[in-house]
Amino acid sequence: MDTKEEITTLSDEQKNGEEIATPHKELRVHTPHEIVQELDKYIIGQGNAKRSVAIALRNRWRRQQVAEDLREEIMPNNIILIGPTGVGKTEIARRLARLAGAPFLKVEATKYTEVGYVGRDVESMIRDLTELAITMVKSEQMEAAEPKARANAEERILDILVPPMTQSVPQTPPPMMFPGVPVSSTITGVPQGTARTPSETKEMAELNENTRKRFREKIRAGEMDEREIEVDVQQAPPIASMQIMGPLGGPGMDEIGQNIQDILGGMLPKKNKRRRVTIAEARAIFEQEEAAKLIDMDNVIREAIERVESGGIIFLDEIDKIAGGSKREGSGGGPDVSREGVQRDLLPIVEGSNVSTRYGIVRTDHILFIGSGAFHVTKPSDLIPELQGRFPIRVELDSLTQEDFIKILTIPENALLKQYTALLGTEGVEVEFTPDAIQAIARTAFEVNEAVENIGARRLHTILTTLLEQVLYDVPDVVKEKHLKIDAKFVDERLDKVVKNRDLSQYIL
Ligand SMILES: Nc1ncnc2c1ncn2[C@@H]1O[C@H](COP(=O)(O)OP(=O)(O)OP(=O)(O)O)[C@@H](O)[C@H]1O
Ligand SMILES: [Mg+2]
Repeated sequence: MDTKEEITTLSDEQKNGEEIATPHKELRVHTPHEIVQELDKYIIGQGNAKRSVAIALRNRWRRQQVAEDLREEIMPNNIILIGPTGVGKTEIARRLARLAGAPFLKVEATKYTEVGYVGRDVESMIRDLTELAITMVKSEQMEAAEPKARANAEERILDILVPPMTQSVPQTPPPMMFPGVPVSSTITGVPQGTARTPSETKEMAELNENTRKRFREKIRAGEMDEREIEVDVQQAPPIASMQIMGPLGGPGMDEIGQNIQDILGGMLPKKNKRRRVTIAEARAIFEQEEAAKLIDMDNVIREAIERVESGGIIFLDEIDKIAGGSKREGSGGGPDVSREGVQRDLLPIVEGSNVSTRYGIVRTDHILFIGSGAFHVTKPSDLIPELQGRFPIRVELDSLTQEDFIKILTIPENALLKQYTALLGTEGVEVEFTPDAIQAIARTAFEVNEAVENIGARRLHTILTTLLEQVLYDVPDVVKEKHLKIDAKFVDERLDKVVKNRDLSQYIL
């Protein structure tokens, strides 16, 4: 049977083009192989984890396509990533979300408390995710509205500089808002009289239009950026920046606080303040205001909720730390009770329920949950059985080897060596890391992980900052060379002393 791939896959350029052209873009759907390929650009190794998240993401889409009555029967395919610190768990989830264009929230499972106790209830993660999606959609739409907003902003600046001529021409011209330009030449160039013939009025209108045209071009070309004008700037009511937090905590408290904020914020009139700014600043201010006017908030909310519901991803870090509450019967309450409580509260959300947010009800049925933890002390089987069932995919990540480190340093699009090369490039210095230097860095990272503590790829960060500290300090003041070669000798000189001295490496590396 020939089952052709139904979903058209887009090349990167097309994807980018699509992103700008249509603010209401569909979530991109990738095939499992495509997902892994994409993740390969950023994450070294961890093939099993990549496959599993690819399947989980695709299965969510598959489930959404199934006829409704059967769909309800199909359990969500949430996933637990198990592995030591710094091996790519969070990075995989983050990249997955980015490639899906999905709203993504990373939370620590341990920060939640059982409903009824002081602290954040688990439902708040859905509200946070929704908030993120709103910001995401809003900024996309504002970006799409930018050309229009820029044009509107220009007109507003122009109106201040050269007010348009209305039907009845004012007897005295409004004062010019910036010094240095004679009044007569800016408005019309025609002496202001009392009575005018229709032809005089027409002439003035034409002059006004021509002057506006000239100024419009100057503004557009940035020729007037340094000039100052007076503008009315909208000020957010003070309440919006105030945090109202109930002393009680408990269910829905943050939301109630949020609603109070909204109501109070809406009641207070928006104040205008007159400020003197340069035309460049005015343009930025007006562009923001105009873009905000152009987008339709109802539309933003609808789109954002839709994205959360069908595409949202929540990364539940440290899920191992809330496991273990149920097994130890009679352990005397304490933290265990609340850990199990948090798991119980999580259950309906993971299973699919309605959560009320300030933007309306959000259904959680299709949100993808990715749990993550080291599971050194507890095991996934220490989670309450119902929750285990909701996280059916388990995958272990591997510890990273010296070979992996070499690849992590060099291959990913955001590889550390590329980052430092780019940083020093801004100073006109071209750095070259020789292969034996890269080898030495990877080896050092691996050894320090063995000797001190295994923090995975994070070790590369500390090693590199130590290695390059002097260079970063000396460029461009002391180091004048345009080409800087970092070889194994350089690496050994800088790092050997620190690595050999265990006490020192505990602090520095
Ligand atoms: N396999 C890998 N490939 C490329 N980079 C990696 C890999 N593993 C880790 N890194 C890098 O190391 C850093 C830490 O990784 P990450 O945040 O994914 O750790 P983690 O597994 O979530 O650890 P933790 O359990 O402490 O949260 C990231 O900045 C990432 O760039
Ligand atoms: Mg992490």
